[in-house]
Parts: sequence; C-alpha cells; structure tokens
Amino acid sequence: MKGVILAGGLGTRLYPLTFATNKHLLPVYNKPMIFYPVTTLVNAGITDILVVTSGPHAGHFIRVLKNGKELGVKHLEYAYQEKSDGGIADALRLAEDFADGGNITVILGDNTTDSQIKRHVENFDDGALVFLKKMQNIDQRKRFGVAVFDVKDKTKIVSIEEKPHNPQSHFVATGLYIYDNKVFDYIRLCQPSDRGEIEITDVNNRYIADRRLKWVELEGFWSDAGTFNTLFAANKYWAEKDNHE
Ligand code: TTP
Repeated sequence: MKGVILAGGLGTRLYPLTFATNKHLLPVYNKPMIFYPVTTLVNAGITDILVVTSGPHAGHFIRVLKNGKELGVKHLEYAYQEKSDGGIADALRLAEDFADGGNITVILGDNTTDSQIKRHVENFDDGALVFLKKMQNIDQRKRFGVAVFDVKDKTKIVSIEEKPHNPQSHFVATGLYIYDNKVFDYIRLCQPSDRGEIEITDVNNRYIADRRLKWVELEGFWSDAGTFNTLFAANKYWAEKDNHE
C-alpha cells in the first residue's frame, strides 16, 4: 500500500513559531515533527510516500526529508496544495495520481503516535478504516471530529460530528485513515464547509452513509502537535519515552 502525509495548512495556532518555517518541521523532542508520521508509515511497511504541503515554507521539506532514505522510505514524492487552508480533504485530493487506482493510508503531518498499524494496513480490503481514540476531556474533544454511535449497537458509527458543541461520545477521529480509491470520488462530491474547508469528516460521513466505514481504537500514545498545549505534550511524551529506553 502507498502512504500519504498531509502537511499543508497554515499552522496559525502556532504563530509566531510558524512564521519562520512550516509547522511540520518544528521540533518534537529530538526530531522534526514530520519524522513521526513518516516513521508510523514505514513501520507499517509503507515505503512509497507522498507528502502534500503548502504555504511559504514548502521548500524547507526537501532540506529536511531529502529523498527519505534515512528514514527507510524507498520512494518519496511531494505535492503542493495551492489553497494552503483548503482543508484536509482538499490536500488529499492531490494524491489521486499518486494513488494510481490503489488503496492509501493517510496520516496528518502533525500527528505523532507509537501505535503499530501494520496489521490493519495488511488486512485492509476496501471502504474506509478510521482510527479513533478515547478522550476524557470534553473541551479537548470539541476540537475534533467526534463519533456518534447507534443507540442500539454501541459499536456502529452513525456519523462523525466535526467540532461539536455537545460531543455524543468519548471517541474522537485521529488523523489516521485507510481509504480505498473511491475516496477521490467522495471528495469531489464535498462542498466547502462554513469555515471554507473541504472537510475530511464530510468524506468519512459519505463512507458511513454507504455503509463502507469501519473503525478501530488506536492503541498507545497519540497526539496532534498543532497547538501549544499539544506540541508541549508531544515533546514531553517523546522525551520521556526516549530517556526510558
Ligand atoms: P489543522 O491543525 O486543522 O490546520 P492547520 O495546520 O492549518 O493549523 P491552524 O488551524 O493552526 O492554522 O490541520 C491538521 C493537519 O492537516 C495539518 O497538520 C496538515 C493538514 N492540513 C492540510 O494538509 N491542508 C489543509 O488545508 C489543512 C487545513 C490541514
């Protein structure tokens, strides 16, 4: 399977840090942030990777990642998202040629996890697989897509609500997904949301409506690093883990 890392966006919540470089190149302990999603994919056996980026510092990626060999990547490509804040699904649409009709594992460039997803990648057939994480803090949950489960069958997702005021469950959608090639058809059907973004939550809800979405709980540590609090939490986790190994 091929892998796609979405590293566009503007990173405005990390101003002034992101005035000088792209969010995904900021340090998380002893590595640039983007090394973590690259390593998640490589550990899952995915070595053919597309990085979608955008914004004024896009050229910095090649200086940091080069051709990816040092991280175990066999083939690395780059794509440029013209509307930097067009949304996650707008960035993903740039992967259509790269996917070449096949399935893809997608991870957001600011997500760090020590979860091993290899078996899910190997067992994936078709549809969509989203990785959910249980989150206790209700205010934190409101920043994410939150799963709504069937009242009669608590394992069945009926929808995902983007940044809800009243989260209906404890499970948030992480930035890790496996899609079949129909994802590009679903993206074409999506319109920009009120905040002007093509939302990955809309894409996932289309999979749900067609009964083609499955979910699993992501094991281990997972955090985005896109706010000062989560950037700090990710730094702390990886520093402590490194010092205990
Ligand atoms: P966000 O954190 O939602 O957006 P952002 O990176 O623009 O940050 P901010 O809200 O602080 O301005 O996006 C999560 C990840 O999704 C981000 O790390 C990269 C990816 N992404 C894109 O690739 N393209 C986009 O248009 C957006 C919005 C996000």
